Amino acid sequence: MIKTVLLDKFLHNRNRFDCGIDPLNNYLKNTANQQTQKDNTRTFVLQDPMENSHIIGFYTLTMVSMDAQGLPVDLQKKHRFSSAAGLIARLAVDSRYRGQGFGEWLLVDALKKLLYASDMAAFPLIVVDAKEGSGFFYEKYGFTPFHDAKNKLFITIADVRISFS
Ligand SMILES: CC(C)(COP(=O)(O)OP(=O)(O)OC[C@H]1O[C@@H](n2cnc3c(N)ncnc32)[C@H](O)[C@@H]1OP(=O)(O)O)[C@@H](O)C(=O)NCCC(=O)NCCS
Repeated sequence: MIKTVLLDKFLHNRNRFDCGIDPLNNYLKNTANQQTQKDNTRTFVLQDPMENSHIIGFYTLTMVSMDAQGLPVDLQKKHRFSSAAGLIARLAVDSRYRGQGFGEWLLVDALKKLLYASDMAAFPLIVVDAKEGSGFFYEKYGFTPFHDAKNKLFITIADVRISFS
């Protein structure tokens, strides 16, 4: 069975990971572990079950200030007293493992973790920073672009909860 684990700098071969986008590769190599140690973000990796040091893909989770400006009016009203949203800050699959469903698997796993976090310390939205024109990937799974920032998309926790129920 495949599962995500926290990035482990001694176990996981970060230098081998290559998703084709240097800022994402470099983040995993140089920054992700430090930020986890500082409790600023959490980076989870999907290990290759054949060789645990090989990273199939990863995602990074944190929180972000709630910016209601670009939301539909009904959501702006509903969540006007909310101050934070969950953030999928990064998500990438190594090019060698693309097109096999791992991107979808990682996204579902990230959404489950954030749903659990919201069940414990409520926040109403999950936001994703879809760099490098990957917005279509997220739209396929129910995310909606903010009116004022096309590379930033959101999904409500209520919709995530329904999709897993
Ligand atoms: C986007 C990414 C995570 C997808 O990973 P993947 O493992 O190839 O995706 P999957 O095999 O799970 O594909 C799931 C579905 O998404 C679709 N898809 C994959 N990449 C897509 C993209 N860039 N745009 C739109 N749809 C995409 C697939 O066609 C598939 O749909 P289908 O089942 O109807 O055929 C991967 O291409 C990647 O790491 N890209 C570089 C980094 C990046 O852009 N990250 C996101 C922003 S930080």
